[in-house]
Amino acid sequence: MYTVLKVARLPDMLSEGLHARYEVLECSESGSELDASKARGIRALVANGESRVRADLIGRLPDLQVIVVFGVGYDGIDVAAARARGIVVTHTPDVLTDDVADFAITLMLGTARRIAKADQFVRSGQWQQGPFGFTRKVSGARLGIVGLGRIGMAIARRAAAFDMRISYHGRRPLAVDYPYYASLTELAAAVDFLVIAVGGGESTRHLVDAKVLAALGSEGILINVGRGSVVDEAALASALAQGRLLGAGLDVFEDEPRPHPGLLALDNVLLAPHMASATWDTRRAMSDLTLANLAAHFSGAAYPTPIPD
Ligand code: DGY
Repeated sequence: MYTVLKVARLPDMLSEGLHARYEVLECSESGSELDASKARGIRALVANGESRVRADLIGRLPDLQVIVVFGVGYDGIDVAAARARGIVVTHTPDVLTDDVADFAITLMLGTARRIAKADQFVRSGQWQQGPFGFTRKVSGARLGIVGLGRIGMAIARRAAAFDMRISYHGRRPLAVDYPYYASLTELAAAVDFLVIAVGGGESTRHLVDAKVLAALGSEGILINVGRGSVVDEAALASALAQGRLLGAGLDVFEDEPRPHPGLLALDNVLLAPHMASATWDTRRAMSDLTLANLAAHFSGAAYPTPIPD
C-alpha cells in the first residue's frame, strides 16, 4: 500500500477515500514533526486550496513526486520549489466553477439588497417600528470582473441574465465581446460592482488597494470570491467604515479564518467563511478528482488535471 501525506483538513468523503486506498500520514504545514525515516518513501502529498506547502516541507520529503491539491487555487504551494525537483502539482478546476460563480452572484445580490441586515431586522422586531430602508438595484448595473477565466466567465454568463453591463480587467484582453480595461483603477471607476475572480500569489497581491477602492467609490460594491490576498483588507475596512465604499461581500480573507477586525463591526459588509465551492455535489466532485489525480500518479497514467505550465 502506498503512503500519502495529508497536510490539510479535508472533508470526510475525501479522507475516507484516501484511507480506503492508501496508508495516510498526517502532518502540519511545517512538517517539523516528520522525522526522516517517516518522510522517506512518501511520494504523494495531499493539500487543499488554502494549504501552505513551502520549500522547507518539500525539502523534508526526499521522495515526493506529486502534490495533489483539493481545490482550484494553489497559491499556497511553492510551485517553483516543486518544479525544481520535478514534482508535479495537480488541482481541481472546472468541477467547482458553477458553485463559485453562483456564490459570487449570491454575494452581489446579498450585499446590494442587504439581506443579512434585513433578516436581523425582522428577527429583532425592528420591523414593528417602521420599514427597512431602500437598497441598491442589481439588474442593469455595471459589473467589472477582475479575472475573466473559467470562474469569471461563468459569473459573466449569470450576470448577463440580470442585464448587467459587463467589462473586465486581466493580464491581457481576451477574444470576448466585453470591454477590456488594462487599468484596474479605470475599470473600478467605470462600474457599480467589482467582482474579484482571480487567484492569489505575488502577482495579484493587493491588486485592489486604496486607490482602486477610491475609484469604485461611495456607490460601489466590491465582491471577492478569488483570494483574500488580492484585496488590501485594512484599506477596505477603512473605506467601508468611512462610507467611501457602499458595501462589500467577501468569501475570502487575507488571514483566514480571521477577517480584519475592522470588518466584523460593520454592517455594510457581508461575510462568508470561504464556502463558495462548499456544496455536497461539488465537494464530492472535487474529492473524486483529487483521488483520480492520485490514482493516475500511482498507476503511471496521465494526470487528469495538472496545474497549467
Ligand atoms: C479553491 O478551490 O481554491 C477554493 O477557494 C477552496 O479552497
